[in-house]
Amino acid sequence: MTNEKYAQTFTFDKGLTLKNRFVMAPMTTKMSFYDGVITEDEKRYYHMRSKEVGAVITAAANVSENGKGWEGELGVYDDKHIAGLSDLAASIKVNGTKAFLQLYHGGRITQSSVLKGTQPVAPSSVKALRPNSEVPRELEEEEIYRIIDDYKEAAIRAVKAGFDGIELHGANTYLIQQFFSPHSNRRTDQWGGSMEKRFTFIDKLVDAVTAAAKEAAAEPFIVGYRFSPEEIETPGIRFNETLYLVEKLCQKPLDYLHVSLRDYKQVSQLDDYQDKPMLAYLNEQIDGRIPFISVGDIRTGEDAKAALENSELVALGRVLLSDPNWVSKVMADKEEMIRYNVAEEERDVLALTNGVWGFMQGMMPDRLR
Ligand SMILES: Cc1cc2nc3c(=O)[nH]c(=O)nc-3n(C[C@H](O)[C@H](O)[C@H](O)COP(=O)(O)O)c2cc1C
Repeated sequence: MTNEKYAQTFTFDKGLTLKNRFVMAPMTTKMSFYDGVITEDEKRYYHMRSKEVGAVITAAANVSENGKGWEGELGVYDDKHIAGLSDLAASIKVNGTKAFLQLYHGGRITQSSVLKGTQPVAPSSVKALRPNSEVPRELEEEEIYRIIDDYKEAAIRAVKAGFDGIELHGANTYLIQQFFSPHSNRRTDQWGGSMEKRFTFIDKLVDAVTAAAKEAAAEPFIVGYRFSPEEIETPGIRFNETLYLVEKLCQKPLDYLHVSLRDYKQVSQLDDYQDKPMLAYLNEQIDGRIPFISVGDIRTGEDAKAALENSELVALGRVLLSDPNWVSKVMADKEEMIRYNVAEEERDVLALTNGVWGFMQGMMPDRLR
């Protein structure tokens, strides 16, 4: 067994210990029932991938009915979900792996067909610049507070279901990010305008959720936050604004920050930040105040070592879809045995049923197919 940093345990300030530095990245499976209740196939998928990593972050689970992003999404918006989520937490927590539930609201990134004919909602009535997007309805102030309550209730359900923590999905252009983005947030009230005001929703949300989780949980309960560093739209979030966001988040009672990147070596679009990868700038800004999770095309032990130079933990996505035993092969120095390709006939043995398989086809680079 190796002495590499990735094999070492990691203990959060609250006292929760991960058996190693690898975390399964949140990945949507599209396997849940029409009403967000987990399926047996989905539990099997997680069970298979949970044994070796320190923690699993689940697929995005919608906290509000009108925050559902796609068919087959996991739900956490109703007490009816608690029983299935308890099974999910238990199936992840085999061999001492910790279970974190990702909390999600899609905002404008959904379809009225997914919302049973209801118009999607967002900070402002501005449609996303992508094919098939719809013009959303601008949220009333009381609806914004209702959504914050939905996140609180979802956090309490995660505690009741036996999860070790939650992750607020503030990345990948969904509702939380939509409030911070000058593209999707054109409001002129307390929720929009300057960069500071576009942070208002995140400010209130993080305070509400961390307080609710603290009150509900008897054991150490982790609250993490995921963000995307840049947007391509103009106007859109730029990297200097993300450094401001990270600074503000470091002052919150959060247990970790988690970046969302395609490639851990990715460099900013801004001319002022070309000297090193965004991961390094982010790690410098965080400066050890909150544990940081890196991600993005980590395919080998060497990649993990490099990413861990700028983070405490490293998240693995697609490599765990194609090889649920990636971690033990890396730890045992048997990387030549890693499976990077999945043939159609291997789908069942890897518990990659219809939903996730279809999603993977669009997300996997050719060499991973
Ligand atoms: C099939 C699939 C589903 C994903 N679903 C989510 C999700 O629900 N929430 C999220 O934050 N990121 C999601 N992601 C992004 C991953 O968490 C991760 O950031 C990305 O895949 C890059 O890591 P990788 O190169 O190790 O796969 C998804 C990625 C894939 C491939």
